[in-house]
Amino acid sequence: LLVDKGNHRHFMAKEIYEQPEVISHTFGHYLDLDTETVCLPELPFDPKEVQHISITACGTALYAGAVAEYWLERFGRVPVSTDIASEFRYRETPLAPGGVTIVISQSGETADTLASLRYAKECGQKVVAVVNVPTSTIAREADVVLPILAGPEIGVASTKAFTCQLATLACLSVAFGRAKGVLSADDEHKLVRAFMEVPRLMTEALKLSPEIEVLARTLAKARDVLYLGRGTNYPLSLEGALKLKEISYIHAEGYAGGELKHGPIALIDEKMPVVVIAPHDRIFDKTVSNMEEVAARGGKIILVTDPKGAEAAPVNAVQKLILPEMPATVCPMVYSIPVQLIAYHTAVIMGTDVDQPRNLAKSVTVE
Ligand code: G6P
Repeated sequence: LLVDKGNHRHFMAKEIYEQPEVISHTFGHYLDLDTETVCLPELPFDPKEVQHISITACGTALYAGAVAEYWLERFGRVPVSTDIASEFRYRETPLAPGGVTIVISQSGETADTLASLRYAKECGQKVVAVVNVPTSTIAREADVVLPILAGPEIGVASTKAFTCQLATLACLSVAFGRAKGVLSADDEHKLVRAFMEVPRLMTEALKLSPEIEVLARTLAKARDVLYLGRGTNYPLSLEGALKLKEISYIHAEGYAGGELKHGPIALIDEKMPVVVIAPHDRIFDKTVSNMEEVAARGGKIILVTDPKGAEAAPVNAVQKLILPEMPATVCPMVYSIPVQLIAYHTAVIMGTDVDQPRNLAKSVTVE
């Protein structure tokens, strides 16, 4: 396998920067641009008949699944439960025949995810595998495979696989919405056009890199960092915290904004940076309250938002990373870029081994 870093210092940087290109391959595979529709391979079930979807995975793939839960429930009006594969496989959750299980795995070899796939099949579920390696065990054992087409990912901390998983799952969610009649043909065209804008929006987002490099100097001094988000930005805040932990070894936690009062607020002081992931959406006001609570306790806020959000946010103690305005559905994909760059630049300042962080493996094939 011949993959080099190109002009980048690390594979992780290369993989962050190639996302506009690779995600356009993913969308190119699942979208028909002439008809502005989503086209998936034939599914081994009728979405109209599906009563329940379980999503299971590990690590970053799990958080891609947690984002997809919001999309599938919203577009497909089907109840979804997302679960850590190592819990799912042993919990013996009852799965009624006729259900669908989605397993997500970059490598397609993660032991717990594979065991979950086998459990789901035993329970009569149809299994959809969202994988990067099409020859993997998980791909072979699934009923249908949706390749994410991210190309080889070398950095241990997953970046481009995450956003390509999101792109694939977004297309699957729209397919559910169309089949169930929740989305009109017009809704689908609009979503497809929004997906086509993602590479350009990601390219814009990458331009924040120098600003993030400056912010990272503050983050590198922190002992703990809190990430907050609501809706699909909640799982993205979990992913942001995971990324920072993995490569900079700074303790970080992701929380749903509404849970701030139920614990993490006790930790806020001048030494604790809080990364708030919040485009100006219908619940932005709630996030503003969260920021006021953090600011009142001296917490330093890094707000990742859009121009409207930047204007509506309290001015004090907030550093802003401003992305273009975009439809809510594409936010988790585009907002991933600053989230990844925050972790990357912080780790570079800390001097860690970014591509091979201590104690971590790219693929966990044993329990
Ligand atoms: C390891 C990797 C993570 C990855 C997780 C799941 O922990 O370090 O980057 O998200 O495994 O891997 P998979 O190949 O199943 O997506």
